[in-house]
Amino acid sequence: MELPLELITAIENETEAIPTNKLAALVSDISKRYRDKNYSDKFLNGYDETIAYVVYRMPATYGAIYTVLNHVKEVYNDFRPKSLLDVGAGPGTAMWAATAIWHDIDQITLLEKDENMINIGKKLSSNSHYDSIKNAKWLKIDLNRSFDAHRHDIVIASYSIGELNEDVQSKIIKKLWESANDILIIIEPGTKIGFSRIKRAREALISLGAHVIAPCPHDKKCPIKDNDWCHFSSRIQRTSLHRKVKNGELPYEDEKFSYICVSKKPCKTIKSRIIRHPQIRKGHIILDLCTKDSIKKVTVTKSHGDIYKKARNMRWGSAFE
Ligand SMILES: C[S@@+](CC[C@H](N)C(=O)[O-])C[C@H]1O[C@@H](n2cnc3c(N)ncnc32)[C@H](O)[C@@H]1O
Repeated sequence: MELPLELITAIENETEAIPTNKLAALVSDISKRYRDKNYSDKFLNGYDETIAYVVYRMPATYGAIYTVLNHVKEVYNDFRPKSLLDVGAGPGTAMWAATAIWHDIDQITLLEKDENMINIGKKLSSNSHYDSIKNAKWLKIDLNRSFDAHRHDIVIASYSIGELNEDVQSKIIKKLWESANDILIIIEPGTKIGFSRIKRAREALISLGAHVIAPCPHDKKCPIKDNDWCHFSSRIQRTSLHRKVKNGELPYEDEKFSYICVSKKPCKTIKSRIIRHPQIRKGHIILDLCTKDSIKKVTVTKSHGDIYKKARNMRWGSAFE
Protein backbone atom coordinates (compact mmCIF):
# COMPACT_ATOMS: atom_id res chain seq x y z
CA MET A 1 0.00 0.00 0.00
CA GLU A 2 1.12 3.54 -0.76
CA LEU A 3 -0.11 7.05 -0.04
CA PRO A 4 -2.00 8.60 -2.98
CA LEU A 5 0.57 9.92 -5.47
CA GLU A 6 -0.64 13.53 -5.23
CA LEU A 7 -0.22 13.34 -1.45
CA ILE A 8 3.34 11.99 -1.76
CA THR A 9 4.17 14.85 -4.14
CA ALA A 10 2.50 17.42 -1.88
CA ILE A 11 4.52 16.22 1.15
CA GLU A 12 7.75 16.31 -0.87
CA ASN A 13 7.00 19.86 -2.07
CA GLU A 14 6.31 20.95 1.48
CA THR A 15 9.71 19.70 2.66
CA GLU A 16 11.71 21.09 -0.27
CA ALA A 17 13.09 24.05 1.70
CA ILE A 18 14.33 21.87 4.59
CA PRO A 19 17.62 19.96 4.12
CA THR A 20 17.06 16.19 4.40
CA ASN A 21 19.65 15.81 7.17
CA LYS A 22 17.77 18.41 9.23
CA LEU A 23 14.49 16.53 8.67
CA ALA A 24 16.20 13.28 9.71
CA ALA A 25 17.53 14.93 12.90
CA LEU A 26 14.07 16.29 13.71
CA VAL A 27 12.49 12.85 13.15
CA SER A 28 15.08 11.23 15.41
CA ASP A 29 14.38 13.85 18.12
CA ILE A 30 10.61 13.42 17.89
CA SER A 31 10.80 9.59 18.04
CA LYS A 32 13.12 9.72 21.06
CA ARG A 33 10.86 12.18 22.87
CA TYR A 34 7.84 9.98 22.11
CA ARG A 35 9.60 6.78 23.29
CA ASP A 36 10.81 8.42 26.50
CA LYS A 37 7.41 10.10 27.02
CA ASN A 38 9.48 13.25 27.46
CA TYR A 39 7.01 15.92 26.44
CA SER A 40 4.37 18.13 27.97
CA ASP A 41 1.10 19.26 26.45
CA LYS A 42 2.77 20.44 23.26
CA PHE A 43 4.43 17.48 21.56
CA LEU A 44 5.55 19.20 18.34
CA ASN A 45 7.31 22.54 18.37
CA GLY A 46 7.20 24.70 15.28
CA TYR A 47 6.45 24.20 11.62
CA ASP A 48 9.59 22.23 10.68
CA GLU A 49 9.07 19.72 13.47
CA THR A 50 5.44 19.30 12.46
CA ILE A 51 6.27 18.66 8.81
CA ALA A 52 9.01 16.20 9.89
CA TYR A 53 6.36 14.38 11.93
CA VAL A 54 4.04 14.30 8.90
CA VAL A 55 6.79 12.86 6.68
CA TYR A 56 7.53 10.04 9.07
CA ARG A 57 4.13 9.21 10.60
CA MET A 58 1.46 10.04 8.01
CA PRO A 59 2.25 7.01 5.77
CA ALA A 60 1.94 4.62 8.72
CA THR A 61 -1.31 6.04 10.12
CA TYR A 62 -2.71 6.24 6.58
CA GLY A 63 -1.92 2.53 6.17
CA ALA A 64 -3.69 1.67 9.43
CA ILE A 65 -6.78 3.74 8.60
CA TYR A 66 -6.97 2.42 5.03
CA THR A 67 -6.79 -1.17 6.27
CA VAL A 68 -9.50 -0.56 8.88
CA LEU A 69 -11.79 1.08 6.32
CA ASN A 70 -11.36 -1.92 4.04
CA HIS A 71 -12.40 -4.24 6.90
CA VAL A 72 -15.46 -2.02 7.41
CA LYS A 73 -16.31 -1.98 3.71
CA GLU A 74 -16.08 -5.76 3.61
CA VAL A 75 -18.69 -6.09 6.37
CA TYR A 76 -20.93 -3.16 5.45
CA ASN A 77 -20.63 -3.15 1.69
CA ASP A 78 -23.64 -0.96 0.90
CA PHE A 79 -22.37 1.86 3.13
CA ARG A 80 -21.99 5.05 1.05
CA PRO A 81 -21.03 7.87 3.40
CA LYS A 82 -21.51 11.44 2.20
CA SER A 83 -19.98 13.22 5.17
CA LEU A 84 -16.94 12.64 7.38
CA LEU A 85 -15.83 14.04 10.74
CA ASP A 86 -12.10 13.56 11.42
CA VAL A 87 -11.34 14.07 15.11
CA GLY A 88 -7.79 14.96 16.16
CA ALA A 89 -7.20 15.09 12.43
CA GLY A 90 -3.47 15.87 12.35
CA PRO A 91 -2.67 16.58 8.68
CA GLY A 92 -6.03 15.08 7.59
CA THR A 93 -4.87 11.47 7.23
CA ALA A 94 -8.30 9.88 7.77
CA MET A 95 -9.86 12.23 5.22
CA TRP A 96 -7.37 11.08 2.54
CA ALA A 97 -7.89 7.40 3.35
CA ALA A 98 -11.70 7.60 3.56
CA THR A 99 -11.99 9.50 0.28
CA ALA A 100 -9.78 6.92 -1.46
CA ILE A 101 -12.33 4.27 -0.45
CA TRP A 102 -15.65 6.14 -0.59
CA HIS A 103 -15.43 8.63 -3.47
CA ASP A 104 -18.93 10.01 -2.73
CA ILE A 105 -17.87 11.76 0.45
CA ASP A 106 -18.57 15.41 -0.27
CA GLN A 107 -18.58 17.10 3.11
CA ILE A 108 -15.58 16.85 5.42
CA THR A 109 -14.97 18.49 8.81
CA LEU A 110 -11.67 18.19 10.65
CA LEU A 111 -11.13 18.98 14.33
CA GLU A 112 -7.55 19.72 15.36
CA LYS A 113 -5.94 21.90 18.01
CA ASP A 114 -2.50 22.44 16.49
CA GLU A 115 -2.23 25.47 14.21
CA ASN A 116 0.87 24.19 12.35
CA MET A 117 -0.83 20.85 11.72
CA ILE A 118 -3.88 22.64 10.33
CA ASN A 119 -1.73 24.80 8.04
CA ILE A 120 0.17 21.78 6.73
CA GLY A 121 -3.07 19.81 6.34
CA LYS A 122 -4.62 22.62 4.31
CA LYS A 123 -1.57 22.92 2.06
CA LEU A 124 -1.54 19.16 1.40
CA SER A 125 -5.30 19.23 0.73
CA SER A 126 -4.93 21.84 -1.99
CA ASN A 127 -3.15 19.16 -4.11
CA SER A 128 -5.97 16.64 -3.97
CA HIS A 129 -8.02 15.55 -7.00
CA TYR A 130 -11.13 15.62 -4.81
CA ASP A 131 -13.10 18.84 -4.28
CA SER A 132 -14.29 17.40 -0.96
CA ILE A 133 -10.67 17.37 0.31
CA LYS A 134 -9.84 20.77 -1.18
CA ASN A 135 -12.97 22.31 0.40
CA ALA A 136 -12.75 20.48 3.72
CA LYS A 137 -13.62 22.54 6.79
CA TRP A 138 -10.75 22.72 9.31
CA LEU A 139 -11.78 23.76 12.82
CA LYS A 140 -9.21 24.71 15.45
CA ILE A 141 -10.65 22.97 18.48
CA ASP A 142 -9.26 21.62 21.73
CA LEU A 143 -11.11 18.38 22.40
CA ASN A 144 -10.26 18.62 26.09
CA ARG A 145 -12.66 21.58 26.26
CA SER A 146 -16.33 21.66 25.38
CA PHE A 147 -17.01 21.88 21.64
CA ASP A 148 -19.85 21.50 19.13
CA ALA A 149 -19.80 18.79 16.49
CA HIS A 150 -22.50 18.41 13.87
CA ARG A 151 -23.60 14.97 12.81
CA HIS A 152 -21.69 13.26 10.01
CA ASP A 153 -22.24 9.86 8.36
CA ILE A 154 -18.85 8.60 9.47
CA VAL A 155 -16.76 9.77 12.40
CA ILE A 156 -13.09 8.74 12.70
CA ALA A 157 -10.77 9.35 15.64
CA SER A 158 -7.42 7.94 14.57
CA TYR A 159 -4.49 7.88 17.02
CA SER A 160 -6.05 10.82 18.86
CA ILE A 161 -8.15 9.56 21.81
CA GLY A 162 -4.99 8.44 23.65
CA GLU A 163 -3.65 12.00 23.48
CA LEU A 164 -6.58 13.39 25.44
CA ASN A 165 -6.77 13.79 29.20
CA GLU A 166 -7.94 10.46 30.68
CA ASP A 167 -10.91 12.06 32.39
CA VAL A 168 -12.30 13.41 29.10
CA GLN A 169 -11.73 10.27 26.99
CA SER A 170 -15.03 8.61 27.94
CA LYS A 171 -16.99 11.87 27.52
CA ILE A 172 -15.49 12.36 24.05
CA ILE A 173 -16.35 8.81 23.01
CA LYS A 174 -20.01 9.47 23.92
CA LYS A 175 -19.90 12.76 22.05
CA LEU A 176 -18.39 11.15 18.94
CA TRP A 177 -21.06 8.47 19.06
CA GLU A 178 -23.74 11.16 19.17
CA SER A 179 -22.05 12.91 16.21
CA ALA A 180 -22.25 9.82 13.98
CA ASN A 181 -25.23 9.34 11.68
CA ASP A 182 -24.07 5.85 10.90
CA ILE A 183 -20.53 4.74 11.79
CA LEU A 184 -17.87 5.58 14.39
CA ILE A 185 -14.31 4.29 14.12
CA ILE A 186 -11.64 4.64 16.80
CA ILE A 187 -8.06 3.60 16.00
CA GLU A 188 -5.18 3.49 18.49
CA PRO A 189 -1.61 2.17 18.40
CA GLY A 190 -1.47 -1.64 18.42
CA THR A 191 0.04 -1.83 21.88
CA LYS A 192 -1.29 -3.18 25.16
CA ILE A 193 -2.23 0.31 26.29
CA GLY A 194 -3.69 1.30 22.92
CA PHE A 195 -5.85 -1.84 22.96
CA SER A 196 -6.97 -1.20 26.55
CA ARG A 197 -8.41 2.15 25.36
CA ILE A 198 -10.16 0.39 22.48
CA LYS A 199 -11.57 -2.27 24.79
CA ARG A 200 -12.92 0.39 27.16
CA ALA A 201 -14.40 2.36 24.25
CA ARG A 202 -16.00 -0.84 22.89
CA GLU A 203 -17.70 -1.57 26.22
CA ALA A 204 -18.90 2.04 26.59
CA LEU A 205 -20.26 2.15 23.05
CA ILE A 206 -22.10 -1.18 23.38
CA SER A 207 -23.72 0.12 26.55
CA LEU A 208 -24.90 3.14 24.53
CA GLY A 209 -26.62 0.79 22.05
CA ALA A 210 -23.88 0.58 19.40
CA HIS A 211 -23.56 -2.44 17.10
CA VAL A 212 -20.01 -3.73 16.56
CA ILE A 213 -19.12 -4.01 12.88
CA ALA A 214 -15.39 -4.75 13.02
CA PRO A 215 -13.01 -6.24 13.91
CA CYS A 216 -15.13 -8.41 16.25
CA PRO A 217 -17.64 -10.96 14.93
CA HIS A 218 -20.01 -10.18 17.86
CA ASP A 219 -21.22 -7.58 20.39
CA LYS A 220 -20.50 -9.80 23.39
CA LYS A 221 -17.77 -9.34 26.02
CA CYS A 222 -14.30 -9.19 24.43
CA PRO A 223 -12.63 -12.61 25.01
CA ILE A 224 -9.05 -11.28 24.83
CA LYS A 225 -7.21 -12.08 28.09
CA ASP A 226 -5.83 -9.26 30.27
CA ASN A 227 -2.19 -9.99 29.40
CA ASP A 228 -2.87 -10.04 25.65
CA TRP A 229 -4.08 -7.48 23.13
CA CYS A 230 -5.97 -7.62 19.86
CA HIS A 231 -4.16 -5.78 17.09
CA PHE A 232 -3.54 -5.86 13.36
CA SER A 233 -0.82 -4.79 10.98
CA SER A 234 -0.59 -2.81 7.78
CA ARG A 235 2.40 -2.74 5.40
CA ILE A 236 3.15 0.54 3.68
CA GLN A 237 5.79 1.14 1.01
CA ARG A 238 8.39 3.73 2.00
CA THR A 239 9.16 6.58 -0.37
CA SER A 240 12.85 7.48 -0.82
CA LEU A 241 12.29 10.60 1.34
CA HIS A 242 10.82 8.42 4.09
CA ARG A 243 13.78 6.02 3.93
CA LYS A 244 16.22 8.93 4.17
CA VAL A 245 14.57 10.65 7.16
CA LYS A 246 14.22 7.39 9.08
CA ASN A 247 17.60 6.01 8.02
CA GLY A 248 15.61 2.93 7.08
CA GLU A 249 16.99 0.23 4.83
CA LEU A 250 13.76 -1.66 4.24
CA PRO A 251 11.51 -0.53 1.37
CA TYR A 252 8.43 -0.87 3.60
CA GLU A 253 7.30 -0.53 7.19
CA ASP A 254 4.67 -2.34 9.22
CA GLU A 255 2.28 -0.37 11.39
CA LYS A 256 0.52 -2.13 14.26
CA PHE A 257 -2.88 -0.82 15.34
CA SER A 258 -5.99 -1.71 17.35
CA TYR A 259 -9.44 -0.45 16.47
CA ILE A 260 -13.17 -0.61 16.94
CA CYS A 261 -15.88 0.22 14.43
CA VAL A 262 -19.50 0.50 15.56
CA SER A 263 -22.70 1.41 13.77
CA LYS A 264 -26.10 2.82 14.67
CA LYS A 265 -27.94 0.10 12.74
CA PRO A 266 -27.49 -3.64 13.17
CA CYS A 267 -25.46 -4.99 10.30
CA LYS A 268 -24.44 -8.40 8.98
CA THR A 269 -21.50 -9.70 11.05
CA ILE A 270 -18.67 -11.93 9.96
CA LYS A 271 -18.31 -15.50 11.25
CA SER A 272 -14.74 -15.00 12.47
CA ARG A 273 -11.58 -12.93 12.02
CA ILE A 274 -7.93 -14.02 11.85
CA ILE A 275 -6.18 -12.37 14.78
CA ARG A 276 -2.54 -13.49 14.24
CA HIS A 277 -0.32 -14.18 11.24
CA PRO A 278 -1.56 -17.48 9.73
CA GLN A 279 1.04 -20.23 10.16
CA ILE A 280 1.44 -21.78 6.75
CA ARG A 281 2.85 -25.33 6.96
CA LYS A 282 3.26 -28.10 4.43
CA GLY A 283 -0.29 -29.21 3.56
CA HIS A 284 -1.99 -27.29 6.36
CA ILE A 285 -2.53 -23.80 7.79
CA ILE A 286 -3.02 -22.92 11.45
CA LEU A 287 -5.33 -19.97 12.07
CA ASP A 288 -5.99 -18.06 15.29
CA LEU A 289 -9.60 -17.01 15.01
CA CYS A 290 -11.85 -14.76 17.03
CA THR A 291 -15.24 -16.43 16.45
CA LYS A 292 -18.78 -15.64 17.58
CA ASP A 293 -18.32 -17.64 20.78
CA SER A 294 -14.58 -17.81 21.60
CA ILE A 295 -10.99 -17.52 20.43
CA LYS A 296 -9.97 -20.72 18.65
CA LYS A 297 -6.92 -22.23 16.99
CA VAL A 298 -8.11 -23.97 13.84
CA THR A 299 -6.12 -26.19 11.47
CA VAL A 300 -7.22 -26.14 7.86
CA THR A 301 -5.86 -28.97 5.73
CA LYS A 302 -5.96 -29.82 2.02
CA SER A 303 -8.88 -32.13 2.78
CA HIS A 304 -10.97 -28.99 3.47
CA GLY A 305 -10.88 -28.30 -0.31
CA ASP A 306 -12.06 -24.75 -1.16
CA ILE A 307 -11.69 -23.54 2.42
CA TYR A 308 -8.02 -24.54 2.31
CA LYS A 309 -7.56 -22.71 -1.01
CA LYS A 310 -9.20 -19.60 0.47
CA ALA A 311 -7.19 -19.84 3.68
CA ARG A 312 -3.95 -19.76 1.69
CA ASN A 313 -4.78 -16.24 0.53
CA MET A 314 -5.93 -15.04 3.94
CA ARG A 315 -3.92 -12.67 6.05
CA TRP A 316 -3.81 -11.50 9.62
CA GLY A 317 -6.98 -9.38 9.91
CA SER A 318 -8.96 -11.14 7.16
CA ALA A 319 -12.56 -12.16 7.83
CA PHE A 320 -12.90 -15.96 7.71
CA GLU A 321 -15.66 -18.58 7.21
C1 LIG B 1 -0.96 11.10 16.63
S1 LIG B 1 -1.72 12.44 15.80
C2 LIG B 1 -2.83 11.58 14.71
C3 LIG B 1 -3.25 12.42 13.57
C4 LIG B 1 -4.19 11.76 12.57
N1 LIG B 1 -5.48 11.50 13.14
C5 LIG B 1 -3.58 10.52 12.01
O1 LIG B 1 -4.10 9.42 12.28
O2 LIG B 1 -2.58 10.60 11.30
C6 LIG B 1 -2.83 13.06 17.01
C7 LIG B 1 -3.43 14.39 16.63
O3 LIG B 1 -4.40 14.72 17.62
C8 LIG B 1 -4.26 16.10 17.91
N2 LIG B 1 -4.74 16.36 19.26
C9 LIG B 1 -4.19 15.92 20.43
N3 LIG B 1 -4.88 16.41 21.48
C10 LIG B 1 -5.87 17.17 20.96
C11 LIG B 1 -6.88 17.95 21.54
N4 LIG B 1 -6.99 18.07 22.86
N5 LIG B 1 -7.73 18.61 20.74
C12 LIG B 1 -7.60 18.52 19.37
N6 LIG B 1 -6.66 17.80 18.77
C13 LIG B 1 -5.78 17.13 19.54
C14 LIG B 1 -2.77 16.36 17.80
O4 LIG B 1 -2.50 17.75 17.63
C15 LIG B 1 -2.40 15.52 16.60
O5 LIG B 1 -2.51 16.24 15.42
